[in-house]
Amino acid sequence: MAEFDPHVLEEKAVLPPVEFSRHARVRSLEEYRALYQRAQEDPAGFWSEQAELLHWFTPPTEVLVWNPPHARWFHDGTLNVSYNCLDRHVQLHPKKPALLWEAEDGKRLALTYTDLYEKTCRCANALKKLGVKSGDCVTIYMPMIPELAVAMLACARIGAMHSVVFGGFSAPALSDRMLDAKSRVLITADGGYRRGRIIPLKETADSALEKCPGVEKVLVVRRTGEKVNWNEGRDVWWHELVDASSSLAPAEPFPAEHPLFILYTSGTTGKPKGVLHTSAGYLMQCMWSTRMVFDLREEDVYWCTADIGWVTGHSYIVYGPLASGATVVMYEGAPDYPGRDRFWQIIGRYKVSIFYSSATAVRAFMSWGNAYLEKHDLSSLRLLGTVGEPINPAAWKWYHAIVGKGRCPIVDTWWQTETGSILISPLPGATPAKAGSATLPLPGVIARVLRMNGEEVPPGETGYLVIEQPWPSMMRTIYGDDERYRRDYWNRIPGKYFTGDAAQRDQDGYIWVLGRVDDVIKVAGHRLSSMEIESALVSHAAVAEAAVVSRPDDIKGEAIVVFCTLRSGHEASEELRVLVCEHVASVIGTIARPAEVRFADLLPKTRSGKIMRRLLRELAQKGSVSGDTTTLEDFSSIEKLAQEIGHDEE
Ligand code: WTA
Repeated sequence: MAEFDPHVLEEKAVLPPVEFSRHARVRSLEEYRALYQRAQEDPAGFWSEQAELLHWFTPPTEVLVWNPPHARWFHDGTLNVSYNCLDRHVQLHPKKPALLWEAEDGKRLALTYTDLYEKTCRCANALKKLGVKSGDCVTIYMPMIPELAVAMLACARIGAMHSVVFGGFSAPALSDRMLDAKSRVLITADGGYRRGRIIPLKETADSALEKCPGVEKVLVVRRTGEKVNWNEGRDVWWHELVDASSSLAPAEPFPAEHPLFILYTSGTTGKPKGVLHTSAGYLMQCMWSTRMVFDLREEDVYWCTADIGWVTGHSYIVYGPLASGATVVMYEGAPDYPGRDRFWQIIGRYKVSIFYSSATAVRAFMSWGNAYLEKHDLSSLRLLGTVGEPINPAAWKWYHAIVGKGRCPIVDTWWQTETGSILISPLPGATPAKAGSATLPLPGVIARVLRMNGEEVPPGETGYLVIEQPWPSMMRTIYGDDERYRRDYWNRIPGKYFTGDAAQRDQDGYIWVLGRVDDVIKVAGHRLSSMEIESALVSHAAVAEAAVVSRPDDIKGEAIVVFCTLRSGHEASEELRVLVCEHVASVIGTIARPAEVRFADLLPKTRSGKIMRRLLRELAQKGSVSGDTTTLEDFSSIEKLAQEIGHDEE
């Protein structure tokens, strides 16, 4: 949880470059305001106009049915999501590159819209042969290869949901998610590459599958060619089944509210929640925001560096850009392999014009130094973006001056797995930017900063960020746990969507998102839950009790700090520290590996027995607790908010 820096609000606005504004979709703050007002006065009219971006088999006659907290958007319309991402572009420009894929080892593959369409049809037919039906949930556990996008679009084509599990998750995390989604089919690969090493995905999947007897078929892409264990009757090679299937698979119409995917994300408890998104509203708002926020044009080469295993990859590698008919760059590997200029090399090679990355990546590039950029031609860039965590003004300014050469607007986009698409962001040709602020809500989005009692906080004070009205790409529920959906998101400040973020509004109405008020930790933009890490820790034989907090990290934003007590018979040692870290990595994934483990005789607790996280956070951040523990109430404004919603000790 970041401590609030009162100076950030003093940042001066940076105007959009004149040349950019001249050609942009929205060209001035006045135009933005008019659009915003139009959407506010008549949301139904506004969204029904945007719905024309989609291809409908049956156009909807009704925009929204809102039975709080459940929304149904365009419910009597029918469409096919994969038709919207493929078929209609094949008809318009069959040879346009859809995916420009680059492997970590430098191998390249360009797929036109026709190629992607045919592969998707083959995969859709193959999934049907494996018994997948509309409404089933297929789990996908893959590296960043084109088959991942193909698999998602193939599920969408036949009305099956997908649940993509990030390839960095370990076996227990994968099996939990497969069980929760009741998947009968898993799509994976023999392995993937990361910094030249092979990540043995099939081996991890095999071990996860031991706990998932319900999974009947495993479709395996051959990526590395390494030898893998083979379960005859269960395992099927992609190149044998998919490549032999027909490249014709008619796109059937599905209702607008047909489920599209589940994406598991971390919340305040140890159990990940399956965020459910449906078809039309999600696809429409992804496509609309891609056009508005990235100002996407026919000729753009668009690169979002996220992994498709996270929501950013779902919405802004696959659905938003492909529904828009864009040319999308997809890269398999690490930003520093084989050299720290890999990203700049890719931008130069493909003449990338829109580059969307994370604040962590920007901070890493900045720390590596400017020399890596200077060797490469970045003149094709016209727009830069960031997402996933607050970006500090210094990193923003470096990004603007050194990567964008002062020519490129930066869109600092705020959104969440739950929101489906970007809700708060500058419009690049219209909104003056302030380094570190996601600026203003997009048209159609009513964002407020409130106290727990629903009152608006005055400018410059910290409150909870909420969204007031339903929007088309909002999550529909938590899969299998509607009660948690109501409780976590809609009942905290009754009737409003509770984001879990602390924020401030400045005098100009700009929103500054400061960090989470719950126990969600953002490490390098990856969303983790302290409870999930704690339950992994106590499953180690030596650990009696554990508490997980975060401390600020110069590059990754936050880092994980563990405090734990040991069971009798176990001694604190350097070896045990390493073993405990390894254990967390093997239960959740290497992204959850603690930066620091501290052994303690006791964990500080309140009289009612709750762990005093506030104290531990201070210890983790400052090295020691300053002063008397009874006078720590003012430790920071965010801490207070965390307490109020019951995530901290009294
Ligand atoms: C944080 C990622 C500040 C925020 C798309 C949110 C941000 C959480 C920004 C969602 C931003 C995302 N500025 N903070 N521009 N974008 N966040 O679900 O705390 O992985 O609640 O979705 O990331 O993370 P998630």
